[in-house]
Order: sequence, then structure tokens, then C-alpha cells
Amino acid sequence: MKLSVIGCGYVGLVSGACLAALGNEVICVDIDKRKIALLKKQKMPIYEPGLEALVRENCRKRRLSFTSDLKSAVSGSDVIFIAVGTPPRPNGEADLSFIENVARTIAEEMDSFKIIVEKSTVPVETGEWIKKTVERYAKKSAKFEVASNPEFLREGTAVKDFMNPDRIILGVESKRAEEVLREIYRPLKAPVVATDIRSAEIIKHASNSFLATKISFINAISTICDAAKADVDQVALGVGLDKRIGPGFLNAGIGFGGFCFPKDLAAFIRISEKLGYNFELLKAVEKINQEQKQVFLKKIEQAIWNVSSKTIGVLGLSFKPNTDDMRFAPSLDILQALQAQGAKIKAFDPHAMPKAKALLKDVMFCKDSYSVCRGSDCLAILTEWEDFRKMDLKKVKSLLNQPVIVDGRNIYDPKEMRALGFRYFSMGRPS
Ligand code: UGA
Repeated sequence: MKLSVIGCGYVGLVSGACLAALGNEVICVDIDKRKIALLKKQKMPIYEPGLEALVRENCRKRRLSFTSDLKSAVSGSDVIFIAVGTPPRPNGEADLSFIENVARTIAEEMDSFKIIVEKSTVPVETGEWIKKTVERYAKKSAKFEVASNPEFLREGTAVKDFMNPDRIILGVESKRAEEVLREIYRPLKAPVVATDIRSAEIIKHASNSFLATKISFINAISTICDAAKADVDQVALGVGLDKRIGPGFLNAGIGFGGFCFPKDLAAFIRISEKLGYNFELLKAVEKINQEQKQVFLKKIEQAIWNVSSKTIGVLGLSFKPNTDDMRFAPSLDILQALQAQGAKIKAFDPHAMPKAKALLKDVMFCKDSYSVCRGSDCLAILTEWEDFRKMDLKKVKSLLNQPVIVDGRNIYDPKEMRALGFRYFSMGRPS
């Protein structure tokens, strides 16, 4: 099938490359000409494992191409996936102006039947607005349909997630659209939920909100565990083995970040308000997430007393491992709070440093983890990159000014750390 994917961000680029790998002819479109120029040279604008190889292979097979010309992409495709950004407005609401612009251009260029699929995370009723916009601006009498096909891939494992989804959600208004979309996803072995557009839109917001709720829940439990001298990892294990709860997303830490959970939660709270419901549960999820950073900062104080003039070595800056994404990373607030108290910061992240440098001032960025340890009064772990788990801890101890680690991601075993002579603080586990 001839497809176009509008927007070459995480979701658009990964979806475009994967849809090409499923055997479709895909044109990926973005208004950012610099990004398109990079992609045409098969250079990735983001770090995402497996993506570059997939893009190269599908470009070579002539199933994947890139353009900044939305008009030609529209006329050359049967199905158009909209994967442009829906950034947050100051009041938390999603800004849907990019979606509206794309819908308008599609309307103006449409010359044959098109299925317009929303892939970006959008509030319920966006499908309806896309439909109204296309009807209003359509120049020719070509027919079209709108559908919703939310994406559930995670950064860092995006290609794998796209190719092995737990489910495929198709929000459609006709059998015709359902069949076309089912055909596109036929090679993927996953249950398909074919439903109406509004329900599909809510499925995406509800899924992200539920996952965020699980994280805030376990973070709240970790605070109780700290106070009661219990071990949150053991509690999560015991709770997660109940099949109705499940073991995933029960890792206590410094709170969730990234461009999805914080923004989608805020947008869902706003849309609920507009629909007449005060979503207090999700407001509490947001509050706990904010407070978790304070919990971590207090642990640093507990570990080294005054932060002022001390050197804090920071390992990990991205909001999660295997990505260079710094958007809404907890590290941003944490580092700024430490600096405000007069701490000096040394930091290392395997992939996020170029992006972090643009966001963080007065940080000494180091070439590796061990350089961070050298001369630091405390080592703070903010992202659970695999490399940090494998560090030579005896060497770490010899390089630090004092053997103090505050681990925001629970990557080491407290008993082993004690045996090695560290003063080791983690989240919700006895130190
Ligand atoms: C999330 C969802 O997991 C995807 O299903 C969804 O498609 C995506 O948002 C989206 O809406 O586009 P992502 O933000 O890439 O994916 O990353 P996650 O792996 O979900 O992690 C989000 C945050 O939660 C990270 O900061 C992570 O450190 C934190 N987290 C996750 C925890 O603190 N504890 C956990 O147990 C799990």
C-alpha cells in the first residue's frame, strides 16, 4: 500500500520505517527541512536502537523515502498517518494546531479517496475536528475517512515495540477503513481492537494514565517502605505476581519523565475537566511524581548533610535509558535544585549529553562514568543505563571523595554495597 506518515518525530519516524518494513511504500514527511536532509543521508535525528539499520534497509529497498513536500506526499498516498507533535499548552491542554494545519493541507491536496489516520496522542474528539476541518477545506470532491490508530511504542525500545505490540487499536467509522488498516497490520501477530474513533482516542490516554498511576503508586509505597524500613523491590515483587496487577511499571525511582506521560496526563486531566469530570486520581498521580524528586533531594542531604559547595557526580541525564531524550527528564529539576543550593555538578550520560548541554548551565560534562566519580562527594544515579550497573565499584569507591552513592533507580543491591564499604541510599529500600 502507498502510505505517508506526517511528522518525523519518535512516533512518526519509527512508525514510517516499521510500516515500510511490513512491505508498504512509505513517504515520511516533515516541515523541518534540516531533519529531512539528515534523513535523506540516512542519518538519524534521534538516538533509538535499531532505527538507523531499519531506515537504511528500507531506503535501499526503495520502500521508504523522505520529503518536506506534504502536498506531493498527500497526492501520492492512499492512507495518511498524522504523527505530528501535540505539545502541551501552559494550562496542560494539548496544542492541536499542527494537526489542524496538516488536516487543512490534506484537504486542499486530496484528489482521490484517502484514509486519514491519527497516530499522534490526541484528546478525545480530535478525530471529529479533523473530519470537520477536511470537509471545510476540501477543494475537490474526493471522498475521505478519518480513523484513529494510537501508537504504544516506548522510546528506547521503539522498533521492537512497534513490531511486537500487545494490541492494535483501530478507531474506525466504516468496514472499509477497518479492512484497509487490518491489511496494513496483517503481518503483526497481535489482537486487534476495532472500535469507534472516540473510544480509540480514550484508550491511548487511559493507557498512559494507568501506567503513570502504577509508577506514582509504587513511588508512594517506596516512601512508606523508607519510613517502615521495608524493601519496595520485595513489595513490588509480591504485589506484581498477582496477575490482575502484573509486574511491569512497578519500579520505584525519581518519577516519570519524557514527552509522553507528563504531557498526556496533563492533557487528560484538562479534557476530563472540559467534559465535566474532575480527575482527582490523576491529579494525585502528578503530585506524587513531582514530590518524588524532593524525596530524592532529601536523600542526598541525608547522605552528605549540606549540599552547598559539595561536588555531586551525576550518572544519567536522559529521562530513561537507551534514549537521548531530555524532555521533561527528572534530571533537569534535580540538577537545578542542587545548583540552587550551591552544589557543583559533574555529569555523564552515554547518549544524552549533546541535548543536555543545551538545557543545563554550569555543569561539568565528563567523558565517562569514572571521571564523574573522581573527586565527587556523592554519586547520584538518575538514569539506569546498563553501563552503570556494570561499573567496577571498587574503582568507583577509590575515585570518590567519600564512598557515598544515592541511587534514584535502585540499580545496586544494598547488601553488596554495604559489604563494599559504601554508604548507599536508594529509593524505598533499607540503606
Ligand atoms: C510511554 C508508554 O510506555 C508508551 O506505551 C507510549 O506509547 C509512550 O509513552 C507514548 O505515549 O508515546 P515512554 O515515555 O517512551 O513510553 O517511556 P516509558 O518506558 O513508559 O517510561 C516513562 C517514564 O516512566 C520514564 O521516566 C521511566 O523512567 C519511568 N518509569 C517507568 C518508572 O519510573 N518506573 C517504572 O516502573 C517504569
